[in-house]
Amino acid sequence: MNEQKRQKLLDVIAPPAIDIELDHVKLGNVFVRTLFVFSYPRFLAQNWMSPIINMDQTVDISIFMNPVSTEKILKQLQSRLTGIEAEMMEREEKGMIRDPVLDTAYRNIEDLRDKMQTAEEKMFQFGLYILIYGKSKEELDKTENSIRSILESRLVYVKQAVYQQGEGLLSGIPLNLDELKVTRSMNTSPLSSTFPFVSFDLSDDKGILYGINRHNSSLVLFDRFSLENANTVILGKSGGGKSYAVKLEILRSLMLGTDVIVIDPENEYQYLAETTGGSFFKVSLTSGDHINPFDLPAPQKDEDPKELLRANIITLIGLLKIMLGSMTPEEESILNEAINQTYASRDITPGTPNFWEITPPLMQDLFTVLENMEGGESLAQRLQKYTTGVYSGFLNKQTNVQLKTRLVVFNIRDMEDDLRPVAMYIIINFIWTNIRKELKKRILAIDEAWWMLQHPESAAFLFGIAKRARKYYLGVSTITQDIEDFMNSDYGRAIITNSSLQILMKQHAATIDKLQQIFNLTDEEKYLLLENNVGEGLFFAGTKHVAIKVVASYVEDQIITSDPEQLLQIQKEKEGE
Ligand SMILES: Nc1ncnc2c1ncn2[C@@H]1O[C@H](COP(=O)(O)OP(=O)(O)OP(=O)(O)O)[C@@H](O)[C@H]1O
Ligand SMILES: [Mg+2]
Repeated sequence: MNEQKRQKLLDVIAPPAIDIELDHVKLGNVFVRTLFVFSYPRFLAQNWMSPIINMDQTVDISIFMNPVSTEKILKQLQSRLTGIEAEMMEREEKGMIRDPVLDTAYRNIEDLRDKMQTAEEKMFQFGLYILIYGKSKEELDKTENSIRSILESRLVYVKQAVYQQGEGLLSGIPLNLDELKVTRSMNTSPLSSTFPFVSFDLSDDKGILYGINRHNSSLVLFDRFSLENANTVILGKSGGGKSYAVKLEILRSLMLGTDVIVIDPENEYQYLAETTGGSFFKVSLTSGDHINPFDLPAPQKDEDPKELLRANIITLIGLLKIMLGSMTPEEESILNEAINQTYASRDITPGTPNFWEITPPLMQDLFTVLENMEGGESLAQRLQKYTTGVYSGFLNKQTNVQLKTRLVVFNIRDMEDDLRPVAMYIIINFIWTNIRKELKKRILAIDEAWWMLQHPESAAFLFGIAKRARKYYLGVSTITQDIEDFMNSDYGRAIITNSSLQILMKQHAATIDKLQQIFNLTDEEKYLLLENNVGEGLFFAGTKHVAIKVVASYVEDQIITSDPEQLLQIQKEKEGE
């Protein structure tokens, strides 16, 4: 390259002006400040640098490690040791008591000498410089303060490179030039704790791919069953990509041998079920798929059958409260008695051997009992719409659906709005009853779960399932766009905070502050969530969180998309075949 061309290139890449001040450098419009570390504690904890590396601000960190000749250090240590020994002897001669500081220093040096002698440890000159950036001096001060407080809590102390900001800049950019030369001697063990590439990784060696880590483009690979519980919540506003992410997780989990059951209020999972050989049930007033809420599960080995019957009666009361509306305590006890009698009419009582093998009663039977019971008339009247007329097709029949395939989807799109929480309740109870028959790794995905928060009974029920799921090797995925409903319900909040895995996608400005509180989001994370594109979000697993982008392969995308244009295209291609 000739000289003229070289000059031109330099003009293009160089900042318009450089202004070196006492405590910062101005590169065009950008302010840069160099900080250096001047003091370390006696022990450095693993990973002490990761909070700085993972800060949401731009920082450049420059690390210099220069080996020092062992021989030279050994000589220095030897003379230091002699000095300490002399001091100790002097104290002894004067009859003074032992000084623990001298003792410790002596032991430490002895120890280090031994290790260096056997080449277990080496000595280095270590320099650590941090370059921070901002649009103004105030911004620099703010960033400096946060770095300072993070490090000082670990007894690591930093200073500005006063009057040496030019040298600082040269040392901080990747030129391998240490112009500052503020170094400390450090041996190998503490030095290893400064290795910077350790954090912000959620790459397990097992599990499925959730997406790409937006901090460093690594893969977010994770096994939700490795956590305290396998429950997940996915929160985000409509169209943010929640269902897409869930479908992708389902597809990938199926490949690894996990069974999946989905409650699908929007008819979005049918194609997924068809493609993967799953089953698809439509629960509506007119469909042929039925679930009888009076079904009883066979007890597990460690379960008391009496307890099981009692628990099922409580579940039924919860359901009937949603169906019939609020009840007085008297009505509730009448209902309790009526359900007991209804079961008894089929000879299902705590005393009957293997009562769970008897064909259970129907809603119609409960109606008959209530009708003939003193004080039961009003309840009977309210129940009637479910046992005669259009509503009876839905929950007044014996169960004819089964969880046979690896993926089972329950569609409730054609259910009346009023009946949706009822349908969800019945389906979830059915699933719960059935999964306990055979222990297996399973995921239960409840899309549009806010429907379950429309009644305190269904909210409590959902929470109860999520709480007990772990015992049955079940991970519950709760997906919702209505965050307000969840936040305002004790059960909703408990479901969110008790889920080991949480995925936040694009959020509404109206709810972000509440969310920030619950999830302890930093301001940067908060803005990230407001400005996310479709498929982008934050992924929380225990205490770790990363910004994530959900990506599917072409084939996966074809199976899980709900983009109408794409669906039409796929439809056309299928017809053309
Ligand atoms: N990661 C992604 N890559 C490509 N397309 C995506 C991605 N995530 C979502 N989409 C597309 O964006 C649209 C909205 O996504 P999705 O249906 O998952 O939103 P949602 O959050 O479930 O919304 P709602 O709360 O209304 O159900 C769909 O057409 C989907 O195919
Ligand atoms: Mg959705």
